[in-house]
Amino acid sequence: MTKLKVALIGAGGIATDVHIPAYRKVPEQVEIVAVADVAYDKAKTVASEYGIPAAFDNYETMLAETEADAVSVCVPNKFHKNAAIAALEAGCHVLCEKPPAMSQHEAKEMEDAATKSGKLLMYGFHYRFQSETQAAKRFIDAGELGDIYSGRVQAIRRRGIPGWGVFTNKELQGGGPLIDIGVHMLDTALFLMGYPEPAVVLGQTHQQLGTKKGVGLLGEWDYQNYTVEDMAVGMITFTNGASLVLESAFAANVEKRDTMQVSLMGNKGGADIFPLKMYQEKHDTLIDITPAYLSEINAHQTEIHAFVADCIEGNVTDRFAKQGTNIQKIIDGLYQSAESGKAVYL
Ligand SMILES: NC(=O)c1ccc[n+]([C@@H]2O[C@H](COP(=O)([O-])OP(=O)(O)OC[C@H]3O[C@@H](n4cnc5c(N)ncnc54)[C@H](O)[C@@H]3O)[C@@H](O)[C@H]2O)c1
Repeated sequence: MTKLKVALIGAGGIATDVHIPAYRKVPEQVEIVAVADVAYDKAKTVASEYGIPAAFDNYETMLAETEADAVSVCVPNKFHKNAAIAALEAGCHVLCEKPPAMSQHEAKEMEDAATKSGKLLMYGFHYRFQSETQAAKRFIDAGELGDIYSGRVQAIRRRGIPGWGVFTNKELQGGGPLIDIGVHMLDTALFLMGYPEPAVVLGQTHQQLGTKKGVGLLGEWDYQNYTVEDMAVGMITFTNGASLVLESAFAANVEKRDTMQVSLMGNKGGADIFPLKMYQEKHDTLIDITPAYLSEINAHQTEIHAFVADCIEGNVTDRFAKQGTNIQKIIDGLYQSAESGKAVYL
């Protein structure tokens, strides 16, 4: 079997912690051929550490000189769109890190480029690959929750402002916890609900803790140059009559260090996903259902291996690209609503 030739754009944390190790787990299927980073030293160091044959200081040259079949886009959000489109136009399948982009407009451009190229554009939403999410999906698809009409999405850290990267820089990331971690739980909820069409959003953002010096459980952040929200709350309604409420924070005065949760309520059952627990009424009895066993998987790896399998098998779908545009529409709406103080009709 010919191996999938993979190149990476960006040689930072997610590339070295997740993408490269996952590709290296399937050496019979994947050969990493090149890495590009504007910080050329970083590209060279990563290339030499992982035995990647070529390092570049820009992805345009890398795409022109390397016959890659697939590209991982692992750069700050501001650069997702241009990098992903360049890779698609160079004839590569693309796995772009989350969030899809900075805005709905950008995500749509990426979706259109994928359609034009006939290549796969997938996003790094690994929570949908978790065993809990996959099991919940099987129960939901079998009708165990009935019609899901309401849900709650939480991505809340007590003191988890990232002390590395550019996660606190609005110009480079587009926002704070909403676009960075809230987006993971929102995608998980939407995935389980069948990605309904959003109708109206109401959002509010706060900047209460990030701009002040404080305890940093994820390192020390630059509080003097903190330009994103530290908490976002919102409500989303969908054209099918369902709704979601959302809370996402890098820092908040709460008990738990870290909450990543999706809760769904349907007319036949409800569920919390992390960990998976379902709630029903059967035979005049309220019952809870918990899986006795779920396989322990590395969801990041499972996601990347699913991407590899789809590339090799030529399973090109526009599903992910369309979902990317859809979720970005909700994020845009929530930020717009927070700014205007008014509900946004999508
Ligand atoms: N799936 C997840 O759970 C997860 C976790 C962390 C980060 N991410 C996403 O991954 C992306 C990168 O995050 P990170 O933590 O790796 O950041 P990072 O800052 O560690 O690395 C980003 C790298 O991109 C390089 N870069 C910047 N602009 C570039 C360009 N135009 N061309 C080439 N290289 C460029 C930087 O020099 C840096 O080395 C972000 O979009 C982030 O949201 C996803």
